[in-house]
Amino acid sequence: MRNTEVSLSKWSVSSRIFHWISAVLLLVTWSMILLYENLDNGFYIGLHKAFGISLLCWMIARVINRLLTKAPPSVPMPKWQALLAHLTHFGLYALLIAMPIAGLLMSVYGGRPVDIFGLFEIPVFVTPDRSLARFYNDLHTGIIWPAIITFTLAHIGAALYHQFIKKDNLIARMK
Ligand code: HEM
Ligand code: HEM
Repeated sequence: MRNTEVSLSKWSVSSRIFHWISAVLLLVTWSMILLYENLDNGFYIGLHKAFGISLLCWMIARVINRLLTKAPPSVPMPKWQALLAHLTHFGLYALLIAMPIAGLLMSVYGGRPVDIFGLFEIPVFVTPDRSLARFYNDLHTGIIWPAIITFTLAHIGAALYHQFIKKDNLIARMK
């Protein structure tokens, strides 16, 4: 039987598409790093950059979509959990936007233009500066990336907790 309670409180179709494609783009961008590190092949770092910039554009569109569409009412949960969920979600948005910007700045301050799938190139729009390139490199790999891993694991852990312990069918809202 169709449960109207659940279907009524689903995320909008656009929000669901934005959510899952962001997750896939994150996975693909990261996989390119694994291929690059294991095969020592410059081709994959090029793809890493192009997918990372794609994720940046996707996240900007996602934020606009989030502001234009209505979020479903929260499922009942203690106040501290609702607050933690909001903070984690906000953190993920901020991190997934800051990460590719740091990557882009690392590249251009290093004097390297960024090729986007052979379609066009983002030119070096700043005066190259080794120490700034190093700073954004450290930010990209040493600070924002560990934060993305932490927030994503917390997020997936919370989703699994709702699914298997609370059994409140939360994941169905995003499916
Ligand atoms: C959300 C998008 C992105 C994610 C999740 C991401 C993730 C990562 C990760 C996990 C690493 C390896 C870190 C390590 O060595 O431990 C890395 C390295 C790197 N990323 Fe990204 N990245 C993103 C976007 C970008 C963009 C847009 C660019 C450039 C236009 C870029 C350029 C690089 C470069 C050049 C490296 C190698 C740095 C080095 O070997 O020191 N990344 N990235
Ligand atoms: C197995 C993987 C995942 C599952 C099961 C999952 C599940 C969910 C669910 C059920 C919600 C809605 C929560 C609610 O209705 O209150 C949600 C929201 C969200 N998820 Fe995920 N998610 C996953 C992966 C990811 C990944 C990889 C990211 C990004 C790194 C992400 C970012 C977000 C964000 C930012 C929101 C908040 C949406 C908003 O407020 O606009 N999720 N996720």
